[in-house]
Amino acid sequence: MSRPVLSVRNVRVSFGGLAALDDVSIDVVPGEVVGIIGPNGAGKSTLLNVVSGFVEPQSGEVRLEGREITGLLPYRRARLGIARSFQDARLFPAMTVRETLLGAFHERFTSGMFSEGLGAPLAREQEDAAQGAIDALLHLVDLHPYLDHRVSDLSFGTTRALEMAALAARRPRLLLLDEPASGLQQSEVAVMGDLIHRLRGGAATVVIDHDVPFVAALSDRLVAMDLGRVVAVGRPDEVLAAPAVIDSYLGGAAPVAAGGER
Ligand SMILES: Nc1ncnc2c1ncn2[C@@H]1O[C@H](COP(=O)(O)OP(=O)(O)OP(=O)(O)O)[C@@H](O)[C@H]1O
Ligand SMILES: [Mg+2]
Repeated sequence: MSRPVLSVRNVRVSFGGLAALDDVSIDVVPGEVVGIIGPNGAGKSTLLNVVSGFVEPQSGEVRLEGREITGLLPYRRARLGIARSFQDARLFPAMTVRETLLGAFHERFTSGMFSEGLGAPLAREQEDAAQGAIDALLHLVDLHPYLDHRVSDLSFGTTRALEMAALAARRPRLLLLDEPASGLQQSEVAVMGDLIHRLRGGAATVVIDHDVPFVAALSDRLVAMDLGRVVAVGRPDEVLAAPAVIDSYLGGAAPVAAGGER
């Protein structure tokens, strides 16, 4: 098997006395989509925080393409190619769709191999490249009608689509999505699944959601978590049938129930 893009080993995180992650290990190989499911408080978002650098684990390590990144600040990890979304969309409300996408391309061109230092103005050919890349992106997600609209004027579903497009614009090696379907109407959920597939461009992807059919359909493998531990890993059908997974949903929503209520 090829070297994992992401490798999380024996990670522990506790907040106060509570173990949010208790010896968690996961791998994501190139091109793979790994879905994470589990009840509220299972540690799913904490795991993404550990990978993206917002939470430091008490022990364990995180590797990106073999390089240890534990301890690096979030912006350094972003420059290494990790892009993440949050449970709530985080865009600038006063910016237009066009500005948001240009901003995302600017980050790409001013980091990594295009680096000229943060905040440096784009060279003319980079501006042209960014415009070309936006046009290419707009073939994948239909935001044309909204290009000059402010983010604050967009519907929730369109905001989410823009957020995905802005993440994709950075061409991440590793894409981390925390509840991309939450708050969407059922008809929009299918569109979002499709959009993620088109936009991720083959990037290794980790997606969390409470809408289990959505995650299962999107993912090559599922990781089920409960109380800070991984309770099952495997093909979606295997994981959804695992006794530990069925148990962890007892008394809560059944794992097949759709909807992202929290
Ligand atoms: N910054 C923090 N400070 C204190 N406790 C935290 C913090 N972040 C998470 N926790 C706690 O860690 C546990 C795991 O939380 P986490 O947000 O990772 O769960 P989750 O699986 O993402 O849940 P949800 O499905 O509700 O989003 C919870 O008990 C939560 O209250
Ligand atoms: Mg969460």
